[in-house]
Amino acid sequence: MERTVHVVLALLVSLCCVANGDRTFTIDYDGDSFLKDGKPFRYISGSMHYSRVSSVYWQDRLQKMYAAGLNAVQTYVPWNYHEDQPGEYNFQGDRDLTNFIHTAQQVGLLVILRAGPYMCGEWEMGGFPAWLLRNTTIKLRTSDPVYLSHVDTWLGVLLPKMKPLLYENDGPIISVQVENEYGSYPACDAAYMNHLKDKFRHYLGPNVVLFTTDGAGLGFLKCGYTLGLYATVDFGPGGNPMDHFSAQRHYEPKGPLVNSEFYTGWLDHWGQHHSTTSSSTVANSLDAILKTGASVNMYMFEGGTSFGFMNGANGGANSYQPQPTSYDYDAPLSEAGDTTEKYFAIQKVISKYASIPSVPTPSATNKTAYGKVQMSGSAWLLDVSDWFSNGTDSEYPLSMEALSQNYGFVVYKLLQPLRVPGSGSTTYTLTMPILHDRAVVYVDDVVQGIVSRMDLGSNKAVVKLSVPSTSKGRLSIIVENQGRINYGSGIDDRKGVLGNMSLNGITVTGWDCIPLSLRDLSAISFNDLSISPVRTSTMFYRAKLPFFTKGDQANDTYLQLTGWTKGQVFINGYNLGRYWPVKGPQKTLYVPYSVFNTVSPDDNEIILFEIDKAPCTPPFDECFVTFVDKPDIG
Ligand SMILES: *[C@@H]1O[C@H](CO)[C@@H](O)[C@H](O)[C@H]1NC(C)=O
Ligand SMILES: *[C@@H]1O[C@H](CO)[C@@H](O)[C@H](O)[C@H]1NC(C)=O
Ligand SMILES: *[C@@H]1O[C@H](CO)[C@@H](O)[C@H](O)[C@H]1NC(C)=O
Ligand SMILES: *[C@@H]1O[C@H](CO)[C@@H](O)[C@H](O)[C@H]1NC(C)=O
Ligand SMILES: *[C@@H]1O[C@H](CO)[C@@H](O)[C@H](O)[C@H]1NC(C)=O
Repeated sequence: MERTVHVVLALLVSLCCVANGDRTFTIDYDGDSFLKDGKPFRYISGSMHYSRVSSVYWQDRLQKMYAAGLNAVQTYVPWNYHEDQPGEYNFQGDRDLTNFIHTAQQVGLLVILRAGPYMCGEWEMGGFPAWLLRNTTIKLRTSDPVYLSHVDTWLGVLLPKMKPLLYENDGPIISVQVENEYGSYPACDAAYMNHLKDKFRHYLGPNVVLFTTDGAGLGFLKCGYTLGLYATVDFGPGGNPMDHFSAQRHYEPKGPLVNSEFYTGWLDHWGQHHSTTSSSTVANSLDAILKTGASVNMYMFEGGTSFGFMNGANGGANSYQPQPTSYDYDAPLSEAGDTTEKYFAIQKVISKYASIPSVPTPSATNKTAYGKVQMSGSAWLLDVSDWFSNGTDSEYPLSMEALSQNYGFVVYKLLQPLRVPGSGSTTYTLTMPILHDRAVVYVDDVVQGIVSRMDLGSNKAVVKLSVPSTSKGRLSIIVENQGRINYGSGIDDRKGVLGNMSLNGITVTGWDCIPLSLRDLSAISFNDLSISPVRTSTMFYRAKLPFFTKGDQANDTYLQLTGWTKGQVFINGYNLGRYWPVKGPQKTLYVPYSVFNTVSPDDNEIILFEIDKAPCTPPFDECFVTFVDKPDIG
């Protein structure tokens, strides 16, 4: 009886709210607060990027966030994750943003959407599709009409999908961020921000809270603030939060205080130590922020993984620092989504200000050490590159973007052979004026040098070529895109060899430029390791993964690459990411179980593309990888 009454009441309540449009989310300027359904509200939110977590795990991660006491999740929308080629949209599977938002709602979380078009986020090109750079004069993040026309087309696809998910329309989205940290970008184009504001309003309607986020300093807000978009700030642990919020108060004298990115950890770069921030530092600062009554979003709550080629980089004209595959961020949930000491420290702080739901925290996922896997087949890139593409002949080297390619590698082959001496050997000096980002230079099948933008500063890349009389004089240069710059003025970061190459100071012409996106490796024909010529650079290696029997529940694991140098890993065609254990800090790659196939267990295979040097010389007993059950990210 009583139960029936409750059910009927619940029905009535939900009917009433849908019917009379009670669901509102607004800013109460006089009360310095948000209002949800007319009542004062503050959010305690965490960032998780759906693009960095396999969709099989979205619910698990969101439940863990809910169990920590959060009431919202914040995510970026990476434009380049959904529009890989102009006009070709993908919102399926791991890219099903609507499903992610629905899942958050089912779990009990509100959603704060950072809709871009630019995101930063240590993501390739800050979320921009690389094809924007096919136009050589485009001016990103400005009111340049070429740029805006692409932005408008994209927003016309994305925002109508989001509208039914707004809080007022029974969805979980309470607020939508426009652009990101625009005040940190030199363009300072108010017309651009106003244009975006108008588009967001046009597609999302008059009611939804639209906001901006900038660094907590007047210098950032100067160009980031846009009338009509609520200004919020971002800052990490340390100092008095009111000092940071004073920048926001300068532009928003009334309304809720909001820290849109409270840093729970920090990003990594290849070749540097793994960043960590202690739990007590994070917990104490979070406490101080919550004490002020502010709304806060913890960046990141789970960092996850920049799978494939999707890591970004920092840098500019004279420096280049790409980020590793792991985006663990030392966040309260690990890269694999497991709770950490920091998670419970944060939960304890939140419990002082909000009630923690009495739901069990989902347990850690199973990890399995599947063990050692011996490589069985190999193929040399320069033997098989024609199978990917026949390339484009060009007088001068073409950039990756000019080849209509977004990610991966470009192979430049000089069409005319180098002049070979009659006897002895001769040397040439090869110069690449601008190298983005890293090149392996061959004459025939002999590596002449590996040069990297990370080491060059503003210098040209120079490689000495040694050409013996027996040489066929075939010059090939394999250039890796290590991830486009995602922050600052250098985000128009075109890839490949930019400008003309010269030999002994004289411009060389006539190149075959082969785009190598590595989207589909099925065309490679592998030779048995023992019968292939022993080469160890720019090599593909393959092995079967004999881990499963039909119907098994596969588990997460970590790929350990001891002995390997630098390259890319694919499991069942899924591009898992970059490895570079000799550089660090990351030494193992996180492998979500979703990449395995337990329906046809015999089909599981791994392919490594080792760029520098594989541990694969006869008798090949070092030519293996190991699946372990513990991460090593430095
Ligand atoms: C880039 O855009 C400008 C302005 O519309 C146009 O004139 C130019 O042809 C475009 N270039 C390319 C390579 O598309
Ligand atoms: C771990 O594996 C066990 C045994 O297969 C299973 O019962 C359990 O649900 C798994 N845990 C998770 C979190 O998947
Ligand atoms: C390259 O050209 C050959 C000959 O025209 C053709 O058979 C082959 O399919 C081409 N390869 C690719 C990857 O397009
Ligand atoms: C390459 O050299 C040619 C001939 O000197 C010149 O016309 C062209 O502008 C150069 N290209 C670049 C990108 O520097
Ligand atoms: C997954 O992990 C569980 C718990 O450790 C284990 O019982 C199961 O055998 C594992 N499954 C596979 C396929 O490794």
